[in-house]
Amino acid sequence: MNLPPLPLSDSLVQALLRASLAARQHAYAPYSRFAVGAAVLDEQGRIHGGCNVENSAYPQGWCAEATALGAMVMAGGRRATAVLVSGPGPTIITPCGGCRQKLREFGADDLLVIAADPGGIRQHWTLAQLLPASFGPGHLDL
Ligand code: THU
Repeated sequence: MNLPPLPLSDSLVQALLRASLAARQHAYAPYSRFAVGAAVLDEQGRIHGGCNVENSAYPQGWCAEATALGAMVMAGGRRATAVLVSGPGPTIITPCGGCRQKLREFGADDLLVIAADPGGIRQHWTLAQLLPASFGPGHLDL
């Protein structure tokens, strides 16, 4: 598939891919057996990894994106500029609806969402493409 050019340097994309695939190795997914990794790039250029963490009470599990955003917040990051999500392939993985909203909390419409698998980068979108007309922190006028 022909990918439109990514608005990030190749070295940064490769660093995100490595971090996401490394995080994916830690996935706790005994129920779905669907391991997911995420790597979030913050406003300081730092990368935060996360994996999915399932639970025997199924709805209590959470996604890789949530773990990565939590790691970013714990490190003092407050803005996400890109996230790379990696699944097993070959089907292209996209963040679930709940994760799109979680990303919206820390990212603008132009937050870059990249989908990958162990074979490499598969697709990319902006958050606005995945979550149009979104509700965000600005609506609360804090
Ligand atoms: N999952 C993620 O971690 N991120 C996504 O973007 C999609 C789905 C997880 C949740 C669950 O542990 C497993 O994948 C199967 O849905």
